[in-house]
Amino acid sequence: MKYDRLAKSYLGAAAEKYESDRSRLSKWKAEQQVVERLLAGFPRGSTVIDIPVGTGRFIPAYAALGMRATGMDISPDMTAIAARKAEKLGLNMPLHICGIRRIEAISNSFSIGVCICFLNWVDTDGVREALKELVRVTSGHLIVGIRHYAPLEELNFVKLEELGQFFLQMAVRLYKAFNRTGLRVHEKSAIHQIFAEKNLRVVEQVRVVPRKYGTDYYIYMLEKRQ
Ligand SMILES: C[S@@+](CC[C@H](N)C(=O)[O-])C[C@H]1O[C@@H](n2cnc3c(N)ncnc32)[C@H](O)[C@@H]1O
Repeated sequence: MKYDRLAKSYLGAAAEKYESDRSRLSKWKAEQQVVERLLAGFPRGSTVIDIPVGTGRFIPAYAALGMRATGMDISPDMTAIAARKAEKLGLNMPLHICGIRRIEAISNSFSIGVCICFLNWVDTDGVREALKELVRVTSGHLIVGIRHYAPLEELNFVKLEELGQFFLQMAVRLYKAFNRTGLRVHEKSAIHQIFAEKNLRVVEQVRVVPRKYGTDYYIYMLEKRQ
């Protein structure tokens, strides 16, 4: 999806229903667990930028872990829900309406950057733009979620299940070739190339949803090389 259209996709009812529509899904729960575990590895008082913060699904974790978190999102409606959540928990968390391509923060102002459920809404150049800004404002680590096609060399065609994944992936590729408006599935090699360009080292990669339609959904913990 184009950045401009995406910016208008989470307003009104879409924002109100966002979390209730998703919070029971196994993918949501798995993401939640992985991100919370990764955050728990950092010291209390760490500064975090969560962009796009959405409805603030990680706010309870920031509060419990004593983190100094800031949330940003382009949608005023999503940000307002996040603000209500922070207020309920008594968490003093700045929440700003701001686009990821031009984050309103000075360089290296946060130690950790969190970007979940965003990078598959934009194309590969969009990923590059978003990561460029995240890398600029973050001095230490990034936690990002991204789905990519399972590389064919990783599939073992002797196994019936993996052969099935190959055909499913081809079907997804064909579908995506004609429907360029929805979620984008990236090439793993292109994503790792962007990590390398941005001087990001993969510290940990968790395959949160393995081999769905020949794709893998990963949460990466990345470290900014100095
Ligand atoms: C699928 S939600 C993910 C929210 C949250 N990270 C989560 O995991 O629930 C996508 C979010 O991206 C926000 N968004 C869309 N375009 C944006 C942009 N250019 N900059 C910042 N946020 C944007 C939307 O408003 C929405 O809240």
